Amino acid sequence: MINFDWKNVDASAIGEEHGLDVKKEFSEYKEKISEIVSDLYSSRDISGKWLAWMNLGYKDELIKEINEYARGLKGKFDNLLILGIGGSALGGICVTEALLKPYWNLLDKDQRNGYPRIFFVDNIDPDQINGLLDILDLKKTLVNVITKSGTTAETMSVFMILEERLEKELGSSSKENIVTTTDKNKGILRKITENKGYKSFIVPDDVGGRFSVFSAVGLLPFALTGIDISEILKGIKNMDNELQNTDLEKNIAAQNALIHYLMDKKGKNISVMMPYSSRLRFVSDWYVQLWAESLGKEVDLNGNRVNVGPTPVKALGATDQHSQIQLYNEGPNDKLINFIRVTEFDTELKIPQVLQDTGIAYLGGKVVNDLMNAEADATRVAVTDYKKPNVTINIPRVNGYYLGQLLYMLEVQTAIAGALYNIDTFNQPGVEQGKNYTYALMGGKGYEKTAEELKQKLHN
Ligand code: PA5
Repeated sequence: MINFDWKNVDASAIGEEHGLDVKKEFSEYKEKISEIVSDLYSSRDISGKWLAWMNLGYKDELIKEINEYARGLKGKFDNLLILGIGGSALGGICVTEALLKPYWNLLDKDQRNGYPRIFFVDNIDPDQINGLLDILDLKKTLVNVITKSGTTAETMSVFMILEERLEKELGSSSKENIVTTTDKNKGILRKITENKGYKSFIVPDDVGGRFSVFSAVGLLPFALTGIDISEILKGIKNMDNELQNTDLEKNIAAQNALIHYLMDKKGKNISVMMPYSSRLRFVSDWYVQLWAESLGKEVDLNGNRVNVGPTPVKALGATDQHSQIQLYNEGPNDKLINFIRVTEFDTELKIPQVLQDTGIAYLGGKVVNDLMNAEADATRVAVTDYKKPNVTINIPRVNGYYLGQLLYMLEVQTAIAGALYNIDTFNQPGVEQGKNYTYALMGGKGYEKTAEELKQKLHN
């Protein structure tokens, strides 16, 4: 199992002013956490609670269907192009970056075992999209358009471009190059899917975008690129089993949620996610969305205006030791740093015993693996010396099993933190407002009045 180390938030490590008396807090919050965890687990099947993401590790039929579909396509496409944004892209980016061989898209087809390269379009920069279209052979490209609402302007505009180009190039057979992932009934993409007869997978009810990585949203791209999804699911189930434990002493998701909540109360409301692994770098992007959209809320569940939410920040070890760590060590004490430390890397990289008559001779004969972990440990000690709270998630190695554990733990942690803040963790009115304003500005039907108001605001 991955393991969680909170000792550097304790007053014994960083002093009373900035640290917590963790044992005391754990005993004071024991009952509250127990209630939250049992409520969470007993509500997972209740429709309307938006907790169906907790059941995604157990969808054997869907997994069979996805694997069969992926097997049928093996070797057929050179490229897999994912269109999606926010929760419909970040999980896919995070997991494929971690689990596919590094520099996957630069490998030749044999090195990729016949699986396609993977590209994500999760923005609408015309230069970048045109640049990608210039290099992709669309005949050899499978487009997976992912949008739960089926209406998101960014995703749908790029889809319209791709659909038209595919139809021009391939005629009626172009539908073989498109697979959609969207709500089972609602949304424009569902209608288009039905009209055109596209192969389609479902974003299940009661699973919000940012909690959808283990639905077809993520699993389909993973299977299509040859990632063993059964390992990921094993990891989720294992963690799920652990996190049902209502005892705070044994529940690492509850521990980290509570530590964040208490640190926020002490004025440390910035949550930094800093994995010491390039393969895990997009875990930070995924976490930033999960934490920000779930916990940044204007009102609590009683309707009081609270404007809560810790600010998540992404960082990468060791790279950001040469950028952000100066601030973390010497700047304001307003952060809680989450280090992720990988015990064993898949390969070993030895530093040769060269340049022996120079000041860097000490590196010769060592392995880069040890250098990476020495950097992680050195930074943990340094920030602790500066009395800056930090926790460490130790992950034995980067593989599907442990990544499933890690992401699921962070999801449950978010749900528990939301309950501590007494907010609706699963809505996103702030995101919806931005979407609606975009529809209005672009001439969307039904948004005429908003468009008028916006024009006035913009020209004031
Ligand atoms: O987490 C969320 O709900 C959002 O970030 C959505 O994933 C994002 O806005 C994209 O929405 P959709 O999947 O409907 O296109």
